[in-house]
Formats: sequence, C-alpha cells, structure tokens
Amino acid sequence: MNAIEPHGGVLINRIDPACTFDGCTCEAELDQLALSDLELIAIGGYSPLTGFLGEKDYHSVVKEMRLANGLPWSLPITLPVSEETAKQLSVGNHVKLVKHGVTYGMMTVTDIYQPDKTQEALSVYKTNDPAHPGVKKLLERPDFYIGGPILVSRLPDKSFEQFYAAPAQTRTAFEKLGWKTIVGFQTRNPVHRAHEYIQKTALETVDGLLLHPLVGETKSDDIPSDIRMESYQVLLDQYYPKDRVMLSVFPAAMRYAGPREAIFHALVRKNYGCTHFIVGRDHAGVGSYYGTYDAQTIFGSFTEEELGIKPLFFEHSFYCRKCGNMGTSKTCPHSARDHIHLSGTKVRELLRQGKKPPKEFSRPEVASVLIKGLHQQPVAIQRNSGGSE
Ligand code: ADX
Repeated sequence: MNAIEPHGGVLINRIDPACTFDGCTCEAELDQLALSDLELIAIGGYSPLTGFLGEKDYHSVVKEMRLANGLPWSLPITLPVSEETAKQLSVGNHVKLVKHGVTYGMMTVTDIYQPDKTQEALSVYKTNDPAHPGVKKLLERPDFYIGGPILVSRLPDKSFEQFYAAPAQTRTAFEKLGWKTIVGFQTRNPVHRAHEYIQKTALETVDGLLLHPLVGETKSDDIPSDIRMESYQVLLDQYYPKDRVMLSVFPAAMRYAGPREAIFHALVRKNYGCTHFIVGRDHAGVGSYYGTYDAQTIFGSFTEEELGIKPLFFEHSFYCRKCGNMGTSKTCPHSARDHIHLSGTKVRELLRQGKKPPKEFSRPEVASVLIKGLHQQPVAIQRNSGGSE
C-alpha cells in the first residue's frame, strides 16, 4: 500500500464522461493555461481542489499561501473570463467550459469576482514587472474570475500518451514496483549533468525516482517538450538503472513563480504519490527575480506535517575539473575557476549553433538529440524571445 496521503486526504476525481451539461446557460472560453488546470483538477493532481478557486480561497491563497480552511496552497488556480461573460452569469449557474469549439466540461458557479491583479502579481510573483513571463500572462488574461466545482467530460488530447499517468496510476505503479519512498523531480529543461547528479544523490537514499517533466505551456525560448522527451529517454536508457526510474509527463503549464511554485510543485507531486521532492537552485525561477535559494527557504513557512512531502534541498551543483567529478560548495573545496558553469541562455545558444556543450555539462547523447531536434524545428530556433535561464 502506498503510504502517502493525497493533499487534504482524498484523491479528487472530477471526470464524468456521461456529463449531460444540464442547465448550462452560458459558455466560458478557456485559454491553454486554464485547460491544463482543468485537466489537473479533474485527474486529482490539484487535490483537494474540486474546481477553480472561489473568492474566499483566492484571497487566502494570494495573501497567506493557504486555502480558506488553512491547508497550504501557494498558487491561485483561477478561471478568468471577460467582463461580458461575467455579466451574463449569476451564482448558481452552470457554465460550459469550452476551448476552440470543443466542450471539456462544466462549472457550477459559486463566485464571480474581479481580482486586483497588481496585488496578485506582487504577492505571487514578487514583482509586477510585465517582462516577467508569469506576470505577463496574468495581465494578458481576462479581468474577471469565476470559481466553483467542475465536472470534466473530456480530457485534452495527450501529446505523450505512452508517458501519461494520472495520479491514481502513478500511485498504483509505485505500489506494484514496491517503492515506498519516491522522489519527484520537476523540470522544464533537458536533464543536464547537474540535474543527473542531484537525482542520483537522492536515489542513493530513496526507492525510486519519478522523472516528471512539465510538458504544458512554457515560455517560447524554453526547449519544446517533444525534443526534451526524446532526450530524457536517451539519457535514461544509457545512464540510469531501469528498475528505479519512472518517466511520466506533468501536463501543467509553467508559471515561473519561483518559491511559490516550488511549494505548489511539491504538493502536486505528493498527489502523484511522491514522498520526497527535489528543490535545487532557483527552482521555477526566471531571470533574476528570485534569490538562488528562495525556493528552499519558503518551505520554512510550513510544517513538514502540513505539507506531507519531504523536500530534498540541493546546493548549486557543477562539474569541478580539479575534483574530476560533480559536486557543490558543500563537497568541493576548489574555486569557481575550476567549475564548469553555463547559463541556460548560453547552452541554448550553443545548441542552436549545432555545437555540443562540454561533456561535463551535458551528456553528448543528450546534446545530440537536442541539436537534432532544434534544427528540425526552425520555429523553435527563431523564437528566442529574450527570456533568461
Ligand atoms: S524548473 O522547472 O525548476 O524551472 P529546471 O529544469 O531549471 O526547472 O530545474 C529542475 C530542478 O533542478 C529544480 O529543482 C532546480 O532547482 C534544480 N536545478 C537545476 N539546475 C541546478 C544546478 N545546477 N544545481 C542544483 N540544482 C539545480
């Protein structure tokens, strides 16, 4: 039996293929972010949420990083609608949830409210700079929010069917594998040597690793998920023990909310059945909006019991030429001159030029897949919109 409880105690399932949409008077158009949130609510990834946040929970999450009942929850999961849609709605209405003519489910509206987006940005992202990709997205979305429980009749099409597992399925898989302790690893990047180092260090003490790359919406200069998925398979095939790693996709969008997103990533992985979660340097960060270890210190705002998943913190890791291996300032006495460090921007630049980063930074097999993938996708190469790391 898998020992870890879902967040809030119950794994939520809001899928109802037989949903008849009785009484729906209106439609709300979802954007890509809302669609991925809908999916994660439906499959229980966001347990205990049964829908998009109502006003009370929203304010509590924005201000306190907790739902109104006190349970930790660090990111507001909201459904923005236009003023026109908001005006057509009343509390108690049933609304169809639609994207590009396809109906995915319905919401029973409990709340219709107008957020203070500046306040939301400052609390959640610690900045209201529209150059921050998460803030930019927040500001671009419509200005009214509707909240209430949802039922989902159809999940979005899956891009990586073979690697798709809902929380109930990862939990069953862990049980079958006999894993009692599982470390979750979030990433929006290819797995480089530093990632490999911290994953394998964690694997020395737990039963299994859930490599759980985020494959929802990311900023345009991040490496596209199809190329990354190929690179993960090549890496796992050649450098990881097959019976100790599970690769599965995380269909969420990236918000780049740094520390708050680290808490969110951990809680959601608990729902997937992980007992431990890796938080390294600048987790879910972008540019220089967050301090290197802010995403670790924020865990101090909660007790371990209320989070229910154990964070494993790692220092900035690098290859040291003098040591001849990977390490951190905790294990390596040499100076930065001996360390191989490349920024995400620099790595992407090299890959785009068809050049492999040093093998101490990235496995050559991984670099080959990335170079090939990026050159087969000229659009991805062009789309360097200037986001950093
Ligand atoms: S993100 O999803 O958190 O934005 P990223 O792929 O950059 O993705 O990082 C995945 C995880 O590895 C995060 O926990 C991050 O803190 C950690 N990490 C990335 N690079 C390093 C590094 N050089 N040293 C230590 N931790 C790292």
